[in-house]
Amino acid sequence: MRRADRLLAAALLLAAAGVAAPAWSQDAPPPGNAAEGKKIYLADGCYECHGRVGQGGAFNGPAPILAKTQLPYEAFAQQLRNPSNDMPTYSATVMSDKDVADVFAFLQSLSGPMEANAAPAILKH
Ligand code: HEC
Repeated sequence: MRRADRLLAAALLLAAAGVAAPAWSQDAPPPGNAAEGKKIYLADGCYECHGRVGQGGAFNGPAPILAKTQLPYEAFAQQLRNPSNDMPTYSATVMSDKDVADVFAFLQSLSGPMEANAAPAILKH
């Protein structure tokens, strides 16, 4: 247990330091739990701007599509900690690194932007 914890901590530190760059390719996403990530995504209000399935804020603002985000994990985490523009900040106090990894896993588990957009095709314009 202890050894595993230490290995995990080391992995997280390496990830945080970006040592594994060009880390988190499609083959090596961070260890996140998509089911947990979905709960966090809904509880923390991401869906209010980005849509319940990460389809983007077509109807209520400029928030980009997040389903199957092409962002590397580091850039994803960076956007939460230091948003580039209008998005609220999610500091480590409100969203732990594990939460961020879980949400990333959830978004990766969604169907891609094309499919997410195709679903409400009737509404699209
Ligand atoms: C109040 C609306 C709002 C909320 C809530 C919100 N976002 Fe955003 N998000 C935005 C906007 C607007 C942008 C465009 C860049 C900016 O303004 O910083 C963005 C950009 C992003 C990006 C960058 C996407 C890209 O392709 O460049 C990611 C990733 C992201 N948000 C994730 C999240 C997550 C995860 C949550 C919940 C923890 C969240 N956002 C909550 C509005 C929001």
